[in-house]
Amino acid sequence: MPKLEIHPLSELRGEAAALLAERFERQRAAEPLLPEVDDFAPHVAGLDGLVATRGGTAVAYLAGAVEGDTAWTRFAGCAAKEAEAVRDLFAVMAERWQVSRFQVVVPGSDLELVDVFFRLAFGCQAFWAVRETEPAEPSGFGGRVRPGTSADHEAAASFDEDLMRLQAASPSFSGMSMPTRAESLEEWADTWDGQDAFVHFVAELDGAVAGHALLYRRPEGDLRVPEGNIDLAHAEVREELRGRGVGLALTAHVLGWAHDHGYRSMTTDWRSVNLLSSRFWPRRGFRPQYLRLYRAVP
Ligand SMILES: CC(C)(COP(=O)(O)OP(=O)(O)OC[C@H]1O[C@@H](n2cnc3c(N)ncnc32)[C@H](O)[C@@H]1OP(=O)(O)O)[C@@H](O)C(=O)NCCC(=O)NCCS
Repeated sequence: MPKLEIHPLSELRGEAAALLAERFERQRAAEPLLPEVDDFAPHVAGLDGLVATRGGTAVAYLAGAVEGDTAWTRFAGCAAKEAEAVRDLFAVMAERWQVSRFQVVVPGSDLELVDVFFRLAFGCQAFWAVRETEPAEPSGFGGRVRPGTSADHEAAASFDEDLMRLQAASPSFSGMSMPTRAESLEEWADTWDGQDAFVHFVAELDGAVAGHALLYRRPEGDLRVPEGNIDLAHAEVREELRGRGVGLALTAHVLGWAHDHGYRSMTTDWRSVNLLSSRFWPRRGFRPQYLRLYRAVP
């Protein structure tokens, strides 16, 4: 067998785009709720990385960039017809990146790529997922779900802080520092500004806020967001009220709202190390599009 040769991605962008096109076709066969993409050249255009060839044929590429103390590859970060070659590419790139943390994104359906990174000591850290919208099921949680307003600003900020606290604790260990109340308020300040990017809902029980959910009109144009999609960007129920159906009611409500407003699908994402969300969303029918795999050295 001819020897594997490694080249700068900048010299073989067309070949990388072709590998990506093949990968994406396999992805869409496994999960139709991905965007329709005709031209893959723009998706590899700005990437920095390497291509492996064998006997003059491109068999794999890997591309990414360092952000802070972590090297990242994104939705178009790798593709292979010879998955094992990605390990050779990682060996070269990892040394070049000069960091000790790595995050790579692989299609959820591409078990060969998952296995390749598993055997490079990566583990699963997060999921990007999708499902169809559907008419709202009536829910019997004993409260109501209503549109959020700027009067819910404090409640939203405090939900955000609760989530940050949960993610910072074991077993998530997000490493993120807790925001101040002013920072949390700032984070939510444009939610009700009438600009149409966000749609906020609040679940009430006995007249008090019990939980909330935020939809986001996430832009299309990447290899993840399908046409006619809206994103479930945030959902949380007060800790003492969890397990009573508030989350089910919020989920049914947002899926129904999205369905009634012409959205075909809903995306969301979660950390696989968040025990609550990583169990809740798959049970609500969200299917993995991509996995984020993580490795820290040593
Ligand atoms: C994820 C989250 C929003 C779910 O909210 P919740 O109100 O606890 O959800 P529910 O009570 O509706 O459902 C939780 C479970 O209880 C079950 N349940 C609901 N009502 C019930 C009842 N009356 N009796 C028994 N079980 C019930 C549900 O079926 C569900 O189980 P399943 O997933 O195995 O089917 C909540 O756990 C949370 O706020 N987590 C922290 C924040 C977070 O991680 N958010 C997501 C960020 S990505």
